[in-house]
Amino acid sequence: MRLLVTGGAGFIGSNFILYWLKKYPEDKVVNLDKLTYAGNLENLKSIEKNPNYEFVHGDICNPQLVNSLTSKTDVIIHFAAESHVDRSIMDPAPFIKTNIEGTYVLLEAALKNKVSRFHHVSTDEVFGALPLNSKELFDAKTPYAPRSPYSASKASSDHLVRAYHTTYNLPITISNCSNNFGPLQFPEKLIPLTITNILEGKKVPVYGDGLYVRDWLYVEDHCRAIDLILKKGKLGRTYLIGGLTEDIPNIEVIKKILKKMNQDESLIEYVKDRPGHDRRYAIDWSESERELGYHPTYSFDEYLEKTIDWYIENKSWWQSIKTGKYLEYYDKQYNR
Ligand code: NAD
Ligand code: TYD
Repeated sequence: MRLLVTGGAGFIGSNFILYWLKKYPEDKVVNLDKLTYAGNLENLKSIEKNPNYEFVHGDICNPQLVNSLTSKTDVIIHFAAESHVDRSIMDPAPFIKTNIEGTYVLLEAALKNKVSRFHHVSTDEVFGALPLNSKELFDAKTPYAPRSPYSASKASSDHLVRAYHTTYNLPITISNCSNNFGPLQFPEKLIPLTITNILEGKKVPVYGDGLYVRDWLYVEDHCRAIDLILKKGKLGRTYLIGGLTEDIPNIEVIKKILKKMNQDESLIEYVKDRPGHDRRYAIDWSESERELGYHPTYSFDEYLEKTIDWYIENKSWWQSIKTGKYLEYYDKQYNR
């Protein structure tokens, strides 16, 4: 099988390519990535010479390039996106461009070249926020109610993908997953930011009261879920993918990390809240279990520890990121 993976130099995309070529070494993977601040070819160093892997430096908004790559593709797995909520609040423009227009360009090429599957990787954030202290969960019937420029752009792309199935019969599937964590995650997101700040002896910023809840999904469970969707998913369907946490507030996640790293809580610093901050996300993945046999397998505590170990063992990976433009972003975001 010939796969076109978009955004394969980012966190989840690179984990996915490594997972895929290990499990299916005969398949051919082309990775189309613009190498924005979040793209990093170091993530794929171990396979760069693999003859079944090819990297193409380019933009998903470029119709000629996307069309030419798609003409040699069976399956598209679309990860490429601007992915950080705080950056979308600072400047929504690249989110609209890449997440909406880029998805449109890919859909057009997929249709023209008759790919056998277009899998779109999306987020639970399209469903908006759930109240704290409720048992409510997101499922595939939850109405869309995005609240940030990031989630609104992802919601928009989901609608486009679904419309190409309904209108043109494009063979699509969509996954809406919760917050991923694991190796190779850019240190702007909560878990890698916390771990690397602790390793640098810096304060750990907590937005608002810290009582915001996310569902945490280990990245390899996510990769396996996409694999199952490609194998067993029904065309036109949306699958919700979640992890094994049950309503754990951010402050508890941070305290766990501090404890595992033998640090006390004096490193915690409460900072200004994110505007429009979604209170709680929680995922009902039972339909994905029934239809695909998906269930998360990696326990949060154990894999949080493995993730911490990865950042300890790969200091040069994140130290080379946390310079220059990253520091400019950090100072602006955290009012340093
Ligand atoms: P990331 O920010 O780590 O990586 C994004 C990748 O896309 C980067 O390599 C970047 O260079 C590339 N890219 C950006 N714009 C591009 C363009 N115009 N053309 C080509 N490449 C471009 O993101 P991630 O965390 O790996 O997320 C991957 C996907 O999963 C995204 O679609 C995101 O919305 C979704 N998602 C992520 C999470 C999470 O917790 N990280 C949760 C739910 C859904
Ligand atoms: P983040 O990792 O940015 O993912 P998302 O916004 O997609 O859920 O944030 C996870 C949670 O952690 C979210 O509630 C915001 C919060 N947060 C902080 O409290 N401090 C921080 O410095 C960051 C980056 C996030």
